[in-house]
Amino acid sequence: MTNEIDHRGRTALVTGASSGIGAAFARTLAARGSTVVLVARREAELTRLATELHRAHGVATHVVVADLSAPDAAEQVAAAVADLGLEVDVLVNNAGFSAYGPFVAADPRRDRDMITVGTTAYVGLTHQFLPAMVARGDGVVVNVSSAGAFQALPYQLVYSATKAFVQAFTEGLWAENRGSGVRITAVCPAAVDTEYFQVLGGHEEAAFGRPISPDRVVEAALDAVDRDRMYTVVGLRWKVTVWSLRLFTRRRNALTYERLSRPRVRAAA
Ligand SMILES: NC(=O)c1ccc[n+]([C@@H]2O[C@H](COP(=O)([O-])OP(=O)(O)OC[C@H]3O[C@@H](n4cnc5c(N)ncnc54)[C@H](OP(=O)(O)O)[C@@H]3O)[C@@H](O)[C@H]2O)c1
Repeated sequence: MTNEIDHRGRTALVTGASSGIGAAFARTLAARGSTVVLVARREAELTRLATELHRAHGVATHVVVADLSAPDAAEQVAAAVADLGLEVDVLVNNAGFSAYGPFVAADPRRDRDMITVGTTAYVGLTHQFLPAMVARGDGVVVNVSSAGAFQALPYQLVYSATKAFVQAFTEGLWAENRGSGVRITAVCPAAVDTEYFQVLGGHEEAAFGRPISPDRVVEAALDAVDRDRMYTVVGLRWKVTVWSLRLFTRRRNALTYERLSRPRVRAAA
């Protein structure tokens, strides 16, 4: 059953709003009449987007510059929001990044930051804003997960482990808060056309097919919110793929994705 959320007059906080899926969430929510609070590290990109959205839609826009790899980032963001005199009605936990390559060659600090941005910040911001939503009996939390949350992704294994965390976290939250008036959804895309692959180092082995647009992810996520779905995998092909994982053993799935994403040896020129 669809029960559409009216975003007019709400306040939405979007992490990772300086590019990709986060910027697309901010654009759509502002177009639907939301005040938006844009969070990321790159102030210039956030300010440009805030100006664009205010001009295009006449909504209030705010920039909160924050490095979500800091362990106390959620408290800092919440303090900035309180200073602005705002209450968050819609929280989009989206900021995240991956790295490609074998675990034994990975930079431990990069992995630590990936875990902090991709799990600690999601939990921390949810702690900051969900209790007030529950008290008001109204609100939305969207956690950007991944089609990679449902099995190990060798060569991006810490990343896929963060998404498995986000998925389990979201499903538990959804179940705990049924009937509270707060909608909680995980959106699970496969490859999306964003800066993600540049940050990853341009490895096509990590993509598994043609990337979709960030707008498709946002559309699927907000549709899932309207339907009060616990999660949505974006695109029929990936819905079927994720569903079919349950037909095989976890061992088999790990080995399949190891083979599919193994670094390709390129012939010397
Ligand atoms: N693209 C895909 O194929 C794909 C597929 C499935 C899931 N996802 C997920 O979608 C989400 C958004 O990624 P995207 O594809 O839109 O990639 P993107 O274009 O690279 O955007 C990543 C966003 O995260 C922010 N971010 C990264 N590190 C941060 C930090 N330490 N502190 C604050 N913000 C930080 C970046 O902002 P700053 O650099 O300005 O800080 C940027 O706004 C991520 O959770 C990603 O895992 C992506």
